[in-house]
Amino acid sequence: MREITESPAGWIEPPSEQQSLRRFLETIRERIWIVVVSVMITTAAAGLYVATADSVYEAETQIQVVPIDDPDGRLSSLGLINNSSDPLRAIETSVALITSRGAAERVAAETDRSPDSILRDISAEPIAESDVVSLTASAPTAVGAADLANSFAKAALRERASTLRETIDTELPALEARLRELPPGVARDTLAAQIAQFEALRVSGDPTLRIIDPAVPPGSAVSPRPLLSILAGIFAGLVLGVGAVFALRMLDPLIRREDQVRVRYRLPILARVPQERGGPRDRPLVWSNLVGGSIEAYRTLRAVLAGSATRNSRAPSILISSPGPGEGKTTSAISLAASLALTEKRVILIEADLRRPTIGKAFNISVNRGIISVLAGEAKLEDCLVTSPIGEGHLGLLLAEESGAAGAELLALPTALELLDQATKMADVVVVDSPPLATVVDALPLARAVDEVVIAIKLGTSRIDRTQELAELLAESGITPSGFVLIGVPGHSEPYYGDPSSQQVVEMQPSRPATSAG
Ligand SMILES: Nc1ncnc2c1ncn2[C@@H]1O[C@H](COP(=O)(O)OP(=O)(O)OP(=O)(O)O)[C@@H](O)[C@H]1O
Ligand SMILES: [Mg+2]
Repeated sequence: MREITESPAGWIEPPSEQQSLRRFLETIRERIWIVVVSVMITTAAAGLYVATADSVYEAETQIQVVPIDDPDGRLSSLGLINNSSDPLRAIETSVALITSRGAAERVAAETDRSPDSILRDISAEPIAESDVVSLTASAPTAVGAADLANSFAKAALRERASTLRETIDTELPALEARLRELPPGVARDTLAAQIAQFEALRVSGDPTLRIIDPAVPPGSAVSPRPLLSILAGIFAGLVLGVGAVFALRMLDPLIRREDQVRVRYRLPILARVPQERGGPRDRPLVWSNLVGGSIEAYRTLRAVLAGSATRNSRAPSILISSPGPGEGKTTSAISLAASLALTEKRVILIEADLRRPTIGKAFNISVNRGIISVLAGEAKLEDCLVTSPIGEGHLGLLLAEESGAAGAELLALPTALELLDQATKMADVVVVDSPPLATVVDALPLARAVDEVVIAIKLGTSRIDRTQELAELLAESGITPSGFVLIGVPGHSEPYYGDPSSQQVVEMQPSRPATSAG
């Protein structure tokens, strides 16, 4: 076990989530089906919209605004746009004049539509940096849009002419009466000129507005736009899908990736065991069930842990635990022990999971006397060891008798530590299969006594909160684990370096005459 540096919990990282493109892509890949379904739904919705939505066409008529010269202000009472006014204001005024209700009423009179609905389909906007106002009409057909734009523009001009005529008609009699009273002279001539101007305007209409470019039927609809709608549908699906993936990830209580362990704990990943397929569901896997990748992974674990053997005078002891049940503790303990035994080391595997003993089941061995008898002082360790069918005769098993929860208290007795001590004297390496420490603390005294504590994490099974509980429990007990064994790592089941067959690996080990592990 490593010395604790800094604080007792110095190896627990504060939970921080570092982001990187790779992690982002991996997260998406894990739940890519959510994104696919989301994109399919939104694209189908966009397709449905394109197929069923009413088409809208837009056509534009361009109207030029030409302010008149009126230096003496003779025409000011007529409300015409003149050169002296601010050009920006002038164009805004003209927009208001063009889209008048009067014009809409004129168009309405010629059709069966209401002025309000016509005004809703009409808009006018100045074209930037020009003296032109663009009058846009929308309609369900291209021809309808062009017709509406043109008829509205004409109606707007007629409306202006009529308003102008009415104003002139009210002002003209007074001007003519004043003219009759004026003696000949400059003032009379000026007034006569004004009257002449009024009369000319009465006939010509508003000279400041001029249709310069009538609308023509547009080639395509402005809405719906099939390509744009489908692209928007795909984009919306991607955004929603990715959002859902990340929301689910945040709510996911399970550890699914190595980086989730890495960001939380400053401990090494000692081995990565691939996801085994088709193994027994109710019991640990034994050496012969494992594929080459798993065997290689447990060899790696053996090699990494072997370092401690040289540091101590007595035989090293390794305890394997995990945050919760069914996370590969026993499989890892058996495989590590078998792997060590194949290097001709005398190995004792102690089954310290007294509540759910499964090593015997894995090997189809049952014992009358095992660890419980030893802990209770009823039997000696050497009498209770059985030689494992794997491990070339170098692996001795101290199995647990069926006892239920009753036997759990026994691990707290001093005899448990004596047992460990005795085992380390009899063997070259002692491996302890522990219960899940975050769930039951039975084996905590043993965890304190061993040299190495290894935490097994099964991806997709181990819980984030339980792992944290285990980490805190170990840290409080002054234990710094050696690292993690990750079980069920995807992409690690390919044929491993040098040899694709697990069976061959076992057979290739030097064959030794079977000797008792004790
Ligand atoms: N590499 C693997 N890939 C897939 N499944 C695995 C792997 N290793 C172990 N398993 C399966 O996981 C389950 C639990 O394994 P195991 O009994 O070793 O876990 P455990 O932590 O000891 O469980 P318990 O808490 O019940 O003692 C078993 O069904 C086993 O077959
Ligand atoms: Mg187990």
